Amino acid sequence: MGNLLTATGLKSYYRTVQGEEIKAVDDVSLEVREGEVLGIAGESGCGKSTLASVLSFTVLPPLYILGGEVRADGNNILVMDRETLRREIKGKYISIVPQGAMNSLNPTMRIKNFVIDVLEEHFSEISKEEALQRARERFEALSLPSRVLDAYPHQLSGGMKQRTVTVISTLLNPNVLIADEPTSALDVSSQKIVIKLLVELLRRKIIKSVVFITHELPLLRHFADRIAIMYAGKIVEIGPMEDIIFNPFHPYSRLLTSSVLVPEPGMKQKKIEAIPGVPPNLKNPPSGCRFHPRCPSYMEGLCNIEIPPLIEVKEDHRVSCFLYGGKNG
Ligand SMILES: Nc1ncnc2c1ncn2[C@@H]1O[C@H](COP(=O)(O)OP(=O)(O)O)[C@@H](O)[C@H]1O
Ligand code: SF4
Ligand SMILES: [Mg+2]
Repeated sequence: MGNLLTATGLKSYYRTVQGEEIKAVDDVSLEVREGEVLGIAGESGCGKSTLASVLSFTVLPPLYILGGEVRADGNNILVMDRETLRREIKGKYISIVPQGAMNSLNPTMRIKNFVIDVLEEHFSEISKEEALQRARERFEALSLPSRVLDAYPHQLSGGMKQRTVTVISTLLNPNVLIADEPTSALDVSSQKIVIKLLVELLRRKIIKSVVFITHELPLLRHFADRIAIMYAGKIVEIGPMEDIIFNPFHPYSRLLTSSVLVPEPGMKQKKIEAIPGVPPNLKNPPSGCRFHPRCPSYMEGLCNIEIPPLIEVKEDHRVSCFLYGGKNG
């Protein structure tokens, strides 16, 4: 199966009113494959949501795209005009449930009005009744009560709100759904229900791939196929889920898997350790490897000077760290 999205050399920075640049996504390359759940994990502030905006083309000032491309269906979506994007890509090819989406629902609007807005935007000829009928059928097919459509957001639990925004975001059967921290504000049982819904959307082929963004790496163990670890605006490691969770290479990934609050059975280290230091300010990130000020394996004269390339060290497993040579190195 092929790639549904291919990002190459993406650079996307915020520009502050003081004229400073925050290098939130800096030379990121990755692909989203058909049929997969790709997890993206890393501490807060490392650029995950910014990357989600670029991949879903929901970039707004003060965020700007400075370079790279995102190919979808053979086209570089970053150079498409807004009208083509609206008509052909947004919601249809790529859809996003942004971080905190469930809390930004307009409290004075019933859920059905969001549905009508989404469908009317893409099908100008559709009537309100047809739009609602489609939504009702979709809700019922996914075991969500269709009476939710008549509710106001505050009448729904957090878990139900998150499932509702997810179903609305996939009404147009997008190929790729990007879900940014969809479970972060939820209790464990609601988290499971939201994950089950995403898996069900894939199983029913309503969507073809999920990009699941989280700061809770262990969560990905239950359903991700591959995981990308992001640090300070860069992907530092990407590979099969089992490799990343149980046998990570990059010193940051290693610390991330050992510093989780609730270690899962079988994970490499059970001890709860905090990662020393804090992620860098992306206005002025560290030279060379951006992790070097926090890295237990730091090599003076190399790691602080040169940027380690992301290279394949094992079948389908890439790492950016001078500790590792290539697959044959
Ligand atoms: N609107 C904004 N203006 C300026 N800086 C921003 C803005 N939004 C995010 N940032 C900065 O961009 C960096 C990456 O943020 P973000 O993509 O939200 O990370 P994550 O989702 O991993 O927590 C952080 O340094 C954050 O402070
Ligand atoms: S390149 Fe150097 S500083 Fe960066 S993670 Fe590897 S060993 Fe640590
Ligand atoms: Mg975020």
